[in-house]
Amino acid sequence: MTTAARRAAYVLTFALFALLALQGAARAVEAPKDLVPKASCTSTTCHPGFAKKKHVHGPVSVGECDSCHVWKNNKHSFTLAEKSPKLCVGCHDDMDFPKKGEKKKEPAKKEAGAKPAKLFVHEPVAEDCLTCHDAHASDYKAHLISSVVELCGTCHDEELDKAKSKTAVSRHTAVFEGKACLSCHKPHSSKFAKLLPAAPMDTCLKCHDKPLEAGGRTIANLKEEITTHKVVHAPVQDKECLPCHTPHGSKLPSLLTATYPETFYAPFGVKAYALCFSCHDDALATKEQTKDTEFRNGERNLHYVHVHKDPKGRTCRDCHAAHASDQSFQLRASVPFGRIGWKLPIGYTRTASGGTCNSGCHAPKTYDRKNPVKYE
Ligand code: HEC
Ligand code: HEC
Ligand code: HEC
Ligand code: HEC
Ligand code: HEC
Ligand code: HEC
Ligand code: HEC
Ligand code: HEC
Ligand code: HEC
Repeated sequence: MTTAARRAAYVLTFALFALLALQGAARAVEAPKDLVPKASCTSTTCHPGFAKKKHVHGPVSVGECDSCHVWKNNKHSFTLAEKSPKLCVGCHDDMDFPKKGEKKKEPAKKEAGAKPAKLFVHEPVAEDCLTCHDAHASDYKAHLISSVVELCGTCHDEELDKAKSKTAVSRHTAVFEGKACLSCHKPHSSKFAKLLPAAPMDTCLKCHDKPLEAGGRTIANLKEEITTHKVVHAPVQDKECLPCHTPHGSKLPSLLTATYPETFYAPFGVKAYALCFSCHDDALATKEQTKDTEFRNGERNLHYVHVHKDPKGRTCRDCHAAHASDQSFQLRASVPFGRIGWKLPIGYTRTASGGTCNSGCHAPKTYDRKNPVKYE
């Protein structure tokens, strides 16, 4: 043996003795050699920890240790009756999910002809309940091993970081406040993708059915906005929020998925309106002369005229509402202008081949696709 190896051996032996001594001290009470099945295993000296927790698991609280642990010859040596998740679904049979790769038998159909919904099962649930639950007792509700945010954030730090990131321009505090992740996700399984508790729009409108106060401003009541206006933007009619909004947090304002100017004026760039041009053809604003838009006087593109200016391009939001309005093309009745938020009227009237704007921007102006109005 080299000196170094010998030294290492001494250190190891010492560490082993120290560890054994510590364990002995911790186990002040000897484990009983003979046991009486069904006798309580918990007392002030035996397994006293469970009772100190806020929430004690049903079978543990009544001392039914043998509902999970197998007694061997009345000796203090146990095996588990089954491994999780089988152990748990023996009692919690409403959670009998197929394991990865296995197919679950479809339950009997409730209504004739009804399609059984495909169930999305959360991966760790099919593998091991103890990833999230303590089998005996816990200070967290539903016997979780930690708080919901901490628990979910262990594996999904990306989503949590988006909501907490200092560089995020908009954060959804719902992600880590109140019921946190559980406001929008079921922990075990769901009929809806991404473990949502309901269709995406219904999930959102559970909270956005009233004005919300946040950071000194009021966030519009979306439910009212989309149910009390006559003209609703097609994706919202289709109950979609997620093409435009990302749920956890965004480097853009209003939790948007792509860029869209928040201001009344902005220099034009296709990228600046990436949100709208992810669905609409940018030709409606990039060509000076075109028939690619109905907002034209003859072939003179009035989208181009308004939007294509540097630096004072009028942004889409000056004329169109993102979700809904009372006029065709989601044209707004008015738009907030300046620091005081003056409601600048848009005053739009539609004609068969054009329209008239009697807006707060200029004297009334008319456009006509067939017989272009002459302007100097
Ligand atoms: C619902 C099932 C269940 C019941 C009931 C149950 N246990 Fe357990 N127990 C487990 C599982 C599962 C493990 C393994 C834990 C692990 O791997 O994290 C375990 C492990 C243990 C351990 C060793 C690890 C540790 O956590 O200290 C002890 C000691 C223990 N149980 C004592 C008890 C006693 C005493 C009772 C009755 C008061 C009891 N158990 C009732 C499921 C149960
Ligand atoms: C012997 C039957 C039995 C076994 C095995 C069992 N449980 Fe339970 N569990 C119960 C009972 C009974 C309750 C209390 C039911 C109630 O109050 O509705 C309960 C409650 C729970 C709760 C809390 C419910 C709530 O609303 O707070 C969780 C979580 C839970 N069990 C998880 C597990 C996990 C994880 C396992 C496997 C390690 C497991 N159970 C094994 C019988 C069992
Ligand atoms: C990814 C983490 C996770 C895993 C894995 C998991 N659970 Fe849960 N479970 C939760 C959370 C979070 C709640 C609390 C739900 C709530 O408060 O709405 C919960 C609640 C429960 C409840 C009480 C409420 C209910 O839905 O009936 C039971 C019982 C339960 N779990 C059993 C199980 C069993 C059995 C397994 C394994 C098959 C399991 N859980 C696996 C996270 C998990
Ligand atoms: C306000 C509702 C809401 C809250 C709160 C929320 N989520 Fe989500 N989450 C969603 C929606 C909606 C989706 C689906 C996004 C999509 O399909 O584009 C999603 C998707 C996810 C995904 C899947 C991501 C992917 O790319 O497939 C994970 C993982 C996730 N969320 C974890 C979490 C965790 C962890 C928390 C808590 C820290 C949380 N979520 C809180 C609404 C929410
Ligand atoms: C032990 C790690 C682990 C924990 C803890 C965990 N998850 Fe997951 N989760 C996964 C894995 C693995 C997947 C599947 C792969 C993926 O999409 O990343 C997943 C997928 C998801 C998805 C996307 C489902 C889909 O349809 O694509 C959501 C949403 C989600 N988890 C939410 C949660 C929430 C909410 C919690 C807390 C209650 C949580 N997770 C706790 C590991 C975990
Ligand atoms: C649990 C309640 C809750 C749910 C569910 C919810 N939100 Fe929110 N949302 C809020 C609150 C509270 C605010 C105020 C800002 C903040 O503190 O997060 C907000 C703010 C917003 C904002 C404005 C953000 C800003 O910075 O201007 C948008 C956009 C938004 N939510 C979209 C959604 C979408 C899309 C969904 C569905 C995927 C959804 N919300 C689901 C509570 C919720
Ligand atoms: C076509 C894209 C699009 C769709 C689809 C969409 N939004 Fe928005 N949303 C926006 C834009 C853009 C804004 C920024 C405010 C503005 O310019 O009017 C916004 C703002 C918001 C705000 C913040 C309002 C405020 O007062 O600050 C909430 C909340 C919101 N949306 C929720 C939703 C919900 C819920 C859905 C689904 C029903 C949805 N959005 C669908 C584009 C969209
Ligand atoms: C997810 C795709 C999507 C996004 C993103 C989107 N739209 Fe739309 N929008 C549509 C669809 C689909 C229609 C229905 C008419 C059509 O097919 O062009 C429509 C219709 C419109 C209309 C009315 C046109 C008509 O013929 O009724 C206007 C105005 C409009 N969108 C403006 C915008 C603006 C401004 C943005 C950016 C904030 C935007 N849209 C983002 C999908 C989208
Ligand atoms: C100055 C007001 C104004 C601005 C700014 C504006 N629009 Fe329009 N837009 C209109 C009017 C008015 C119509 C209706 C034209 C008609 O049918 O007579 C329209 C129509 C549309 C249509 C329906 C298809 C078409 O082109 O006829 C879409 C889509 C649209 N706008 C998207 C946008 C986008 C995206 C932006 C920002 C890049 C934008 N608009 C900026 C006034 C405006």
